[in-house]
Parts: sequence; structure tokens; C-alpha cells
Amino acid sequence: MTHAPHVIDPAGRGLHAEAELLRTRGSAALVELPGGIRAWAPTQYTVLKQLLADDRVSKDPNQHWPAWMNGEFRETWVNSWVGVTNMFTAYGSNHRRLRKLISPAFTKRRTDGLRPRIEELAAGLLDRMAEAPDGRADLRAAYAHPLPMQVICELFGLPEDRQADAARLIAGIMDTTVTPEQAMAVWQEVQELLGGLVALKRETPADDLTSVLIATRDEEDGSGLTEQELIDTLLLVIGAGHETTVNLIGNAVQALLSHPGQLAGVLAGEIPWSDVIEETLRWAPSIANLPLRYAVEDIELPDGVKIPQGDPILATYASAGRDPLRHGDDAASFDVTRVDKEHLAFGYGVHFCVGAPLARLEAAIALPALFERFPGLALDVSEGAAPHVESFIGYGYSELRVTL
Ligand code: HEM
Repeated sequence: MTHAPHVIDPAGRGLHAEAELLRTRGSAALVELPGGIRAWAPTQYTVLKQLLADDRVSKDPNQHWPAWMNGEFRETWVNSWVGVTNMFTAYGSNHRRLRKLISPAFTKRRTDGLRPRIEELAAGLLDRMAEAPDGRADLRAAYAHPLPMQVICELFGLPEDRQADAARLIAGIMDTTVTPEQAMAVWQEVQELLGGLVALKRETPADDLTSVLIATRDEEDGSGLTEQELIDTLLLVIGAGHETTVNLIGNAVQALLSHPGQLAGVLAGEIPWSDVIEETLRWAPSIANLPLRYAVEDIELPDGVKIPQGDPILATYASAGRDPLRHGDDAASFDVTRVDKEHLAFGYGVHFCVGAPLARLEAAIALPALFERFPGLALDVSEGAAPHVESFIGYGYSELRVTL
């Protein structure tokens, strides 16, 4: 049976219910994204994993998305995701070149060296939270957001007086309910802010990764990053480097506080924090859906669904995490004792997340430090349930009220 494309809620409300519905339509279903963009949404873990590792699937719209090449959708929300010139939208050897220049900065060993500074930042934020006279806080604003934000800004040398603007602009990119005018205004400001950072570090190089990126040259051909590649790579690492980890910390705290039995097991030392982090990533991945990939040629899936050449594909991470075919009938339950928590929340294949060790380290420091400092931490629902970020891409809370 052929279905009309399912129109995705731009605000991401009920995205798990949407995934359930789409599962009934085959291994990939047609969806309509904001602005009328049609894409294939894989509905099963194994199908998504297979497509993420398939050379016949590209992330480069300039080579493989005919509608984009014809000038369509350029001045909409999708521009900030696919109209960038960095590893995120590169294919084949160009992807390897762009990724090679940044990935040495994020190896597990280098990341582990950041531990003392992350611990210090977490302790400082907790001290400040403890001073709240009414014993209440918005955990996102007071802790989950500033910690990854400060870490990534220190790494890339973004001056403190530009950090609030950077956070606002990244939130603007995550918001998929914006008008085309709002999206283009955010885009313009991003270019100015990060262009300013590049200019500053060209003039006054310092001990930070922006200065390293400017100076880096390819070993083989001696080429460096172009101005646009520099700006867009900074947008990728500063954006991906904080908003996702903010959501991971917020989602883990919310899940634990709503499952007190499991929290007790964790605090008693029976369940390691790493299990909390992995189960949170499976159950509530910080990136629920990621635009876009494109079929380089016609692709036929095992159940006969055909994705025609040039059609966009959405990476459906939230749906994959709760696929009953992969995780059983209780796939939708949060269970830190689940033996098999395998997930695709950091992606899979050549675009696998460069910052996964950093994200895991930050969460592994932030979560125990928070619960040690405030053993009686509880959700504050006096003003209703915590609101979600308005996005079908980012998955987390825009505010998380707690009592200390
Ligand atoms: C919980 C935290 C995080 C999550 C859930 C996450 C998720 C992801 C996902 C799903 C991808 C694959 C994108 C795709 O489908 O093609 C990705 C790629 C990427 N992530 Fe993360 N990420 C996180 C933290 C970070 C951090 C801390 C950084 C640090 C700088 C980072 C940098 C990147 C970069 C540069 C890429 C692009 C890799 C490429 O295209 O080759 N991420 N991330």
C-alpha cells in the first residue's frame, strides 16, 4: 500500500509516537520535513545502520541532491544543516581530508587530559547552584548547558563575551520551527561571529584549537582549510560540541529522577554511571533525527522498499534506539540494567561522532558530581512537566526545574 508522506511535527512533539506509526509502513517510510522537503526515514535499527555504512549514501548535497543543486530549499532552516562546507556534508576523499584535520584533537588520550579542568568547572557550577536561596534551579541553565559550553569554548578559544551569542545562535539552528527569514538571519550572524573568531586568531594565535586549525596543513599536499571551511568547521565543532552533551546530561538526570529505583541502584554503586549514559543515549538520543543524506544510486532495501537516486534520507536515531526488532518488546522502557544497550546515537560509519569520547567524559564527570552534591535532588513539577526543545533534530529539555 502506498502512503502519502507523513508530515513530521517541526517541533518534535511526540516523535516516538511518529516513529511507531512509521514502523507500520515498512523498513523506510516517506516523510515530509518543514518547508516541504520529502525524505526517506528508516524505521528499523538494522536498516539505518546499513544505510549509514553504505557508500551509495552521501551527505554532499552539491553532488547528490538534485533539488539543492537546482537552487531549491536554500533559504530555509535546512541551509544551516546541509549548506555548510565541512566534514559533515562531505563525501569520499573530501570527507577524509576535512576529518583528518580535526580528529587528532579529539582522541581518547587527548580528551582524557581534559578531566581535571572539566571537574573544576563542574565543581564551580555546583557551588553556584548550592547558593540558590530557595533551593531550586533550572538544571539546564545552571549546569547541563554551561559545563559543555565552557569546555568547548575554552578548547576553541571563543572569547567569553561571545559565548552567549554563540549559544543563542546554535539554539536558533536547532529550532526547526523557525521561518525562512529567521533561519537566514541566524545564518548571517553565525558567519559574522565565527568569521570574527577566525580573524582574531589569525591576528593573535593562542594555545587553542582554532589557532591549530588555521595553522594546520595537509601532510600530503600542504593545503590548509579555506576560510569557509574554517568557519563551517568551527560551527560544527562548537555546535555539536555543546548542545548534544547538554541534552545528554539533561536527559539522563530527567530519566534517573523519574525512575527512583534505578537511581538508588546507581547511587549504591550497583550500576555504573557508564550504563546510565549508554541507556540514555539509546532511549533518548540527543540527536533524534539528522538531516540529510542522499541516495547516490537507486537503493533497494531487504523488504523491497526502493529509495530512488537523488532522494534525501533522514538519519532516524531516536527511532532506531527504540526499535522492538533490535531491543525487544520493552525497547521503549528506560532500563539501566538492560544487558544490550547498543545504540547509534553517535552515528555509524565514516561520519561517526568525532566528539564521542569528550561527550562521554563530560557526562561521566557531571552526573556523579551532581548527585553527590545534591543527594536529595528531585524534579520540580510545580509549573508542569519540563518543556522540550522545539526541534525534530535536537532531543532534550529547554528547561529542567529541580529542587536541590
Ligand atoms: C552526547 C553528545 C553527542 C552526540 C549524541 C553526538 C552525535 C553525533 C552524531 C549522531 C553524529 C553523526 C552525524 C551523521 O549522522 O552523519 C556526530 C558527528 C559529529 N560529532 Fe557528535 N555528538 C555528540 C557530541 C559531540 C562533541 C562533544 C563533539 C566535539 C567537538 C562532536 C563533534 C562531532 C563532529 C565533528 C561530527 C562530524 C563527523 C563527520 O561528519 O565525519 N560531537 N555526532
